[in-house]
Amino acid sequence: MAYKAISFLLFIGGGIFMGAATAGYHQLLTYYRQQVYVSLGKNYRINITLLYVFVTGYILGAVDTLLRTGTFYHAVIALALALAALYTWFSMREQARAAVLLRGKVLEAIRAFVNTIDLKDNLFKGHSKHVYDIVNLFYEELEDYHEVLNREKLLDAAILHDIGKINISSGILSKSEGLTHEEWEILKSHPLRGKEMLDETGFREISDWVLYHHEWVNGNGYYGLASENIPLESKIIAIADSYSALSSERAWRARLSHEETLAVIISGAGKQFDRKLVDCFRRIDRERLAPLTVEANAGLPRGKAGNGKRPGPPVASAPAFPMTARPVDFPKR
Ligand SMILES: [Fe+2]
Repeated sequence: MAYKAISFLLFIGGGIFMGAATAGYHQLLTYYRQQVYVSLGKNYRINITLLYVFVTGYILGAVDTLLRTGTFYHAVIALALALAALYTWFSMREQARAAVLLRGKVLEAIRAFVNTIDLKDNLFKGHSKHVYDIVNLFYEELEDYHEVLNREKLLDAAILHDIGKINISSGILSKSEGLTHEEWEILKSHPLRGKEMLDETGFREISDWVLYHHEWVNGNGYYGLASENIPLESKIIAIADSYSALSSERAWRARLSHEETLAVIISGAGKQFDRKLVDCFRRIDRERLAPLTVEANAGLPRGKAGNGKRPGPPVASAPAFPMTARPVDFPKR
């Protein structure tokens, strides 16, 4: 009888740890999928399947022990299984801790990238963070897309969208006069440079979103992709990027007000921006956007009100809504 009671208690204790480990693995899988840039591979799914098989066998073993006369042999088996369950639980906890550490490293890398952009050119200081904050608010208005969007990775792409500018001289980035064709081509290469950097540093899942953040839905963007071929995330970032650029001071022009900025974005619906996404963007509470703009403009040099143009290179036949490196920087051209 004593063996039966001991065996049963061991089964119950082990079962609790095994249940906790199984639930923990599920959380871990979700966490990995949402936040960490590593392929899960087959191992995690195999582990989960094995856990289920183990838990089922465990429950059957416990029931069997209850129904039979307990023996020393039952107690030893129950102890071994309980220890195995405990080990599985500890192992899962360590993996969860490693996943959090890995995400921390990813965030550190992102922070380092963004700091490098800021150091590169004081003129755009805070722009990446501004775009990140706007996308964060924008996401709340994108309920129709929540099933297909990964918020964390969308935000990572938002803050890293201009990472390719690291390789571009600040002379070109902050030039307030017209850019030459050569300079223009260099500036236009920043999405591709950004993609290459992200591919090399393990951010492959979001690198195409960065590559296409200057596409226009009418095909007049950098790579001429039509709307349906542009990643949704790129189209979201494009709107936030434009809002940030227009509502911020630039050396060659003063910032536009919220209403003026929104008017430019609305006028670009169906041409530069996705019409449905613009409708969602219009729903963002103005009072929540305003503090972000104030924060983004803190410390920026005052723009030159009234003469707000930084002309691009001469083009043979410019589209009605001209293509530019930061298209909406030039609404008056
Ligand atoms: Fe850009």
